[in-house]
Amino acid sequence: MTDQWPGPYRSGPHPWADLRNCVLSGDWFHAPVAGRLERMAGGLLEIGADGRIAAVCHAGSEEHRTLAREAAQAGRLVTLDGLMIPGLVDLHVHAPQYPQLGKGLDQPLEVWLQRYTFPLEARYADRLFARSVYRRLVADLLAGGTTTALYFASRHVEATCELADACIEARQRALVGRVVMDNPDQCPDFYRDASVAEGVAATRAVAAHIAAHPANAGWVRPVITPRFLPSCTDDMLHALGDLAGECGCHVQTHCAESDWARDYGQARFGHSDMEALDRFGLLTRHTVLAHGNFITASDMDLLARRGGAVAHCPLSNAWFANAVFPLRVALDKGVRVGLGTDIAGGPSASMMGTMRMTVAASRMLRDGVDPDRPAAERGRPGSAVDMMTAFHLATAGGGDALDLPVGRFAPGQHFDALRIDPDAPLGTMRLWGDESDEDLLATALYTASRANITHVWTDGQQTGQGPRPA
Ligand code: GUN
Ligand code: FE
Repeated sequence: MTDQWPGPYRSGPHPWADLRNCVLSGDWFHAPVAGRLERMAGGLLEIGADGRIAAVCHAGSEEHRTLAREAAQAGRLVTLDGLMIPGLVDLHVHAPQYPQLGKGLDQPLEVWLQRYTFPLEARYADRLFARSVYRRLVADLLAGGTTTALYFASRHVEATCELADACIEARQRALVGRVVMDNPDQCPDFYRDASVAEGVAATRAVAAHIAAHPANAGWVRPVITPRFLPSCTDDMLHALGDLAGECGCHVQTHCAESDWARDYGQARFGHSDMEALDRFGLLTRHTVLAHGNFITASDMDLLARRGGAVAHCPLSNAWFANAVFPLRVALDKGVRVGLGTDIAGGPSASMMGTMRMTVAASRMLRDGVDPDRPAAERGRPGSAVDMMTAFHLATAGGGDALDLPVGRFAPGQHFDALRIDPDAPLGTMRLWGDESDEDLLATALYTASRANITHVWTDGQQTGQGPRPA
């Protein structure tokens, strides 16, 4: 396959670099509903000047023939080969932990945080260090197909603003939160907010920077980010809950991740993490909770009532959580769920890797893992999800969790998309010509690697075309 458009319609070194105002013909795969794949082979997507999808026409219709003819006459028809899927949404990334990816994973969470994470995050007092890591991270995530990310940054205002700037410049959609942590019992002296006033003022300062950025145009939004209940005092949690009520913006935190975290919350508050967050005003329609492995049935009901969402991080859960998130239960109760890599709790920045682990973890939960127990008593029946569900969660599910119009090929959605080339020379995907629609997409999601992701667009423009970060 070639990425040179041969006709008279497009010219220049990157013929697919700017697809705004074009009508795109291609093989589109999306999962608007959990578990249900929709393929639009030969379908047309009309992209507006604003980078959003203006119209979708299925092959074979009269409308399709008319649009294709008119677009060709106007020199606006672009034919893309390969497979196109919506851009991937990573609902849980610790940006400052990128240099920690793959390190220290043999430790329990509370040790890992104190020994590795906090000392690393403290280094982001150095704005230039922050700039170089964050530019690298954003470029790498985009190249892997992550077009939207929900980020925890460090507790430095300047460094967090650097992350927001890196996303805006690279045209990655993002929510960026300056992490808040003031509890002297749980946070080291070298990495702690001095007061409630500091945590709140710093959160406001980052939000003001994001709002004032001249090139922002909706790419980046702020998010209130108490690290997790153990790292914040009650006064701080109240103050951030009040701020969430005042500004109506998003909130993110970790919830009931591990035995230790769950037990800590129970001992300190006398009830579950979920109930505690609710009492502090931090459980809203705009809240995204990372992990949630130990949330009980009644917690799940409370979450569903409040309309909050879960960032399911199956890879990180395998290392730190002592449990598997009951994903199927959450979906059946109507809780919005997306997927997160949890860099660096999970040792991979790949959303495709996260989809794979979502399926694998759900199968282990269903069947159990202890061979000494009888098969019938080993697992939790009904817990498995398939790849089409994982694909939905990584795209439309993530978009829904953030209330952003991304993740589907439908009118009004941003044209954030990936092209997967099954024949990419250095790729790892092999097709044999006998694949059903589902098998074709599953093969791509299970076997494609970075080399197969040849193009990534946000708002109709190809990302990664500028200079690579130093
Ligand atoms: N809980 C509090 N902070 C963190 C973090 O940085 N990573 C993970 N996985 N869990 C946390
Ligand atoms: Fe995390």
